[in-house]
Amino acid sequence: MHRAALLLVLLICNFVFALSLTDGLLPNGGFEHGPKKTEMNGTVVTSKTAIPNWEISGYVEYIKSGQKQGDMLLIVPQGNSAVRLGNEASIKQKVQVIKGMFYSITFSAARTCAQEEKLNVSVSPNLEANDWGILPIQTMYSSNGWDSYSWGFQADRPDIEISIHNPGVEEDATCGPLIDTVALKTLYPPKLATNLIKNGDFEEGPYVFPKTSWGVLIPPHIKDDHSPLPGWIIESLKAVKYIDSQHFAVPEGKRAIELLAGKESAIAQIVKTIIGKTYVLTFAVGDANNACEGSMVVESFAGNYNVQVPYDSKGKGGFKRAQLQFNATSTRTRIMFLSTFYTMKNDNSGSLCGPVLDDVKLISVRNPRRLL
Ligand SMILES: *[C@@H]1O[C@H](CO)[C@@H](O)[C@H](O)[C@H]1NC(C)=O
Ligand SMILES: *[C@@H]1O[C@H](CO)[C@@H](O)[C@H](O)[C@H]1NC(C)=O
Ligand SMILES: *[C@@H]1O[C@H](CO)[C@@H](O)[C@H](O)[C@H]1NC(C)=O
Repeated sequence: MHRAALLLVLLICNFVFALSLTDGLLPNGGFEHGPKKTEMNGTVVTSKTAIPNWEISGYVEYIKSGQKQGDMLLIVPQGNSAVRLGNEASIKQKVQVIKGMFYSITFSAARTCAQEEKLNVSVSPNLEANDWGILPIQTMYSSNGWDSYSWGFQADRPDIEISIHNPGVEEDATCGPLIDTVALKTLYPPKLATNLIKNGDFEEGPYVFPKTSWGVLIPPHIKDDHSPLPGWIIESLKAVKYIDSQHFAVPEGKRAIELLAGKESAIAQIVKTIIGKTYVLTFAVGDANNACEGSMVVESFAGNYNVQVPYDSKGKGGFKRAQLQFNATSTRTRIMFLSTFYTMKNDNSGSLCGPVLDDVKLISVRNPRRLL
């Protein structure tokens, strides 16, 4: 009897431990524990296992905050240390996950001197061929050079290895990107209720670092089966930004989306509809209180119907509600949002910014006239 109870407690503890292990920084995910002096040549890490919890390959440098590169001062957003991935260099870590679950990786990266930078994030061994993603890190969205990026996957097995690889072939290997704070979060597939849009409030999404104030980018070309933003497709050329109420003005709940790059950043969801039925799509459009000022327009599409919602932003937060009523002409209707114009922050950073979207709801209505 006692033994069974003890076993149960142990099982529960294991389970809770497994879960808690997967929400937040990976072990030594901030690279605060570094190599021994004997495992470095200057800043270059010389042994594969020199950085605790990680395995490296290729030209990897261990960077301390405040270190100089030419006349560039390297800063690290959290803690004192980060790594730099030179050409073809990678960092890997083995993690325990739950088979079949969906996960999102979030990490921060900064471009240094290279021109075209990309990172290949992957999980292995996974059965699916598409269990890697190329994240462009060329466009800088934050004011200090660091941005956080997210990528989603479904675990095919309980023991996986997460890898971040710089496929770059720059002439100067020391021009690779800096990487800091690698985190993992379990994603729960959204359930449909009366709202026919999945995750319309954007509450479910990638891990957001509590101490970073620049949100998390959700990269372009993301399909819904591997989206770090469950339910949503990022079908555009540029990223959208996932923002939190701790650092931004958010119309509803704790999370929302900032449409950063005009028509180049669009998010979509395909919903099941009944031909001939009338539907009402409602949503909130606002600004994130991030010095993003000006006349903005959010365009919303539902099949062949669309509405343009103007929003005059003072850059200090606020929002309005809008709606689009439509009659379904297909059994699947594409719902899409984009920002008509490009906007830049008025803080001289030159960073792109845009309107905030939140609280997207779709309901079918029997008697549309009653709403008018
Ligand atoms: C350290 O790096 C320098 C420059 O790349 C090289 O010349 C030197 O041989 C290296 N030292 C060791 C001990 O590997
Ligand atoms: C990204 O990395 C994965 C895993 O190593 C590899 O299979 C894939 O070919 C890489 N993709 C590109 C475009 O380099
Ligand atoms: C939907 O169809 C009804 C009649 O079937 C019509 O009265 C209404 O105007 C249509 N609504 C839209 C938004 O086209």
